[in-house]
Amino acid sequence: MIKKLQELETECLKAFSSISTSAELEASRVAYLGRKGRLADILADLPKLSNDEKRSAGQKANEVKSAIEGAFEAAVARIDSAQSAKRAEKEWLDISLPGSEPSVGHLHLTSQAIEEISDIFSRLGFVRARHPEVDWDYYAFESLNMPKDHPARDDWETFFVEGENNRVAEGEKGKIVLTPHTSNAQVREMEKGQLPIRMINIGKCYRRQSTARHLTMFHQFEGLVIDKTATVTELKGVCDYFAKAFFGEGRVTRLRPYHFRFTEPSFELDVSCAVCDGSGLVAGAKCKLCKGGWLELGGAGMVHPNVLKAGGLNPKEYQGFAFGWGVERTAMMRSGLNIDDIRIMYKNDLRFLQQF
Ligand code: PHE
Repeated sequence: MIKKLQELETECLKAFSSISTSAELEASRVAYLGRKGRLADILADLPKLSNDEKRSAGQKANEVKSAIEGAFEAAVARIDSAQSAKRAEKEWLDISLPGSEPSVGHLHLTSQAIEEISDIFSRLGFVRARHPEVDWDYYAFESLNMPKDHPARDDWETFFVEGENNRVAEGEKGKIVLTPHTSNAQVREMEKGQLPIRMINIGKCYRRQSTARHLTMFHQFEGLVIDKTATVTELKGVCDYFAKAFFGEGRVTRLRPYHFRFTEPSFELDVSCAVCDGSGLVAGAKCKLCKGGWLELGGAGMVHPNVLKAGGLNPKEYQGFAFGWGVERTAMMRSGLNIDDIRIMYKNDLRFLQQF
């Protein structure tokens, strides 16, 4: 038996040293040392031996077993290190290579403009306010000197909110509307009762229109100043400051007489065109962007006494001016792009958005 054990050890050690995969090694281990393996097979004859023989055979069996186990561990280590050497060759990494930059998004053109607009007005002391984008008719029209059924309301193609039985929802202050302009913030801001007022309200507006120049949903920014004194000169100064800060030093503004029910006098505000520098001419031909030297920015005026009254103020004591301009238009005007359809801003076309 001792001879058999010795032969087994020699054979097994040889087998282990030539194996190169861990699966083969495991199979081989089971074949030699397993419960029904070769070693167990040899030791099955142990009971047939005399006591002396048993002792020396047992001792030899232990030696052989630990030699085989030692050879097994050595084979495991050898195979492992061979495998990781192979992997290292295949999967090496050059840590000095520049990384691949993850793509990070950016704010939408409109959000960028909103941040910049509030920043510019904050430098003049205007405080950003938030007022409802779904509001009572009273704040959108009536308190702005536009009584019920007044034709001036037709200038705003308003969405009404539907209530029960397909009828327009109504409440204590009239119908409920999606605000067609941010001027609903005027009387709401006065009602807060904190004077003087230097407000900039930026919000969404809705009008029942969708054309190349008009969006169903768009943004406006509404400025409102109320104080013991307020003048058209100051209004013009604010407009000029904004135009220069947002569009560039060389730009100028002009006020053109207009009519709004909630301001008196009322104006439309124009900004000089960047393409023709306000001349209306490019190389002797009519400027294609402005067709006359000016681009229309929005409405403005001195707050009407009736609006001050609606806000609980005495028109003999307080005065103010207001302006309301579209964010999308303003952003587009700066880019100098002659975009023929403003609706592209909300089509989520990355080829367009990534340019800003
Ligand atoms: N709310 C007006 C509009 O949407 C603009 C405006 C605001 C005019 C404030 C005068 C004063 O056209």
